[in-house]
Amino acid sequence: MTGHGLRGGVTAVLAGLGTCLPPKVVTNDDLSLVLDTSDEWIVRRTGIRRRHVIEPGSSTSVLAAEAGRRALKSAQCDQADAVVLATSTPDMLCPATAPEVADALGLAGIPAFDVAAVCAGFVYALATGAGLISTGIAERVLVIGADTFSTILDPTDRTTRAIFGDGAGAVLLRQGEPGEPGALGPFDLGSDGSLSQLITVPAGGSRQRASGVPAAERDHYFTMQGKPVFKQAVTRMTESSRSVLARAGWTADDVDRVVAHQANARILAALADSLGLPPHKIASNIDRVGNTVAASIPLALADADLRTGEKVLLTAFGGGLSWGSTVLHWPDVVPQ
Ligand code: UT7
Repeated sequence: MTGHGLRGGVTAVLAGLGTCLPPKVVTNDDLSLVLDTSDEWIVRRTGIRRRHVIEPGSSTSVLAAEAGRRALKSAQCDQADAVVLATSTPDMLCPATAPEVADALGLAGIPAFDVAAVCAGFVYALATGAGLISTGIAERVLVIGADTFSTILDPTDRTTRAIFGDGAGAVLLRQGEPGEPGALGPFDLGSDGSLSQLITVPAGGSRQRASGVPAAERDHYFTMQGKPVFKQAVTRMTESSRSVLARAGWTADDVDRVVAHQANARILAALADSLGLPPHKIASNIDRVGNTVAASIPLALADADLRTGEKVLLTAFGGGLSWGSTVLHWPDVVPQ
């Protein structure tokens, strides 16, 4: 699906950016003490050197609220008309986590809801926030991506534990003009549920419970078929990027920086290759944070040292399968 998300000259403009990482750091050497892995393997196959994880007692909403608070500060604003939270690790299966986040920010009363599109979640949430603005439902939307995959990883799975980290990032979208720096769009969004089994948490939803058969203990853990997911990630992000660039009237050469979902440094290199871009145009902070799922794009935006006016392409891919892309001219914002 593609669309400009614009109506009557009103569009969503990125006006603030905030992030939050939990203080605890787990290095590759830390993992190699408890799993059959090594710093050498993880760096060579993924580019990841360390990741942040929450401590017991913390949760996704804590990180999300802090990132949201910082995004509001970055936008020099203390109000929003809606909170859209992208997450696949909500505090609870029910209710959504966003209302608690809104309440923690002193924004109780406004619409607040979760969007679940795994690693593509932040782009889906941006599109949702942009839609609320372009339809006149809201003037300012706080869009947050937050995940704590450390809470759903199989402690014995060396592959997923090497990759995922916890974190949150948020942007404040405000009503503005299509030509302004920070104006979002067009968007390209898509999914392919025929391949949903490549990335799953099998138990905990309605399917296993409805059967009446108790779930096996390990079925509550996250599973991923790494190799086919790798190939799909490169293909889908490339196609989605090309599609959104065509809609925007940009060529790949026009793009100053690509801020893609950070899943694996080799995926980022393959994406640069398939888009015909030099590697330095692809932002990467995966060495420091790993794959933070819905938080990945805002965390990478904050680390990318973007200059005002630069042409930025955002693209993401993940479980669902789901993918999405959008573009913007980078606005004059200071990440908090
Ligand atoms: O966020 C969006 C969705 N996620 C992604 O896009 C991730 C996509 N996939 C990947 O990034 C890669 O496929 C992985 C990093 C997950 C795995 O890398 P790979 O190069 O595809 O490894 P593999 O799964 O083919 O495994 C190769 C070998 C296996 O050993 P054998 O069977 O050849 O003896 C694995 O058991 O590497 C082994 N291995 C490890 N060895 C040391 C897997 N994980 C580790 C590890 N340390 N952490």
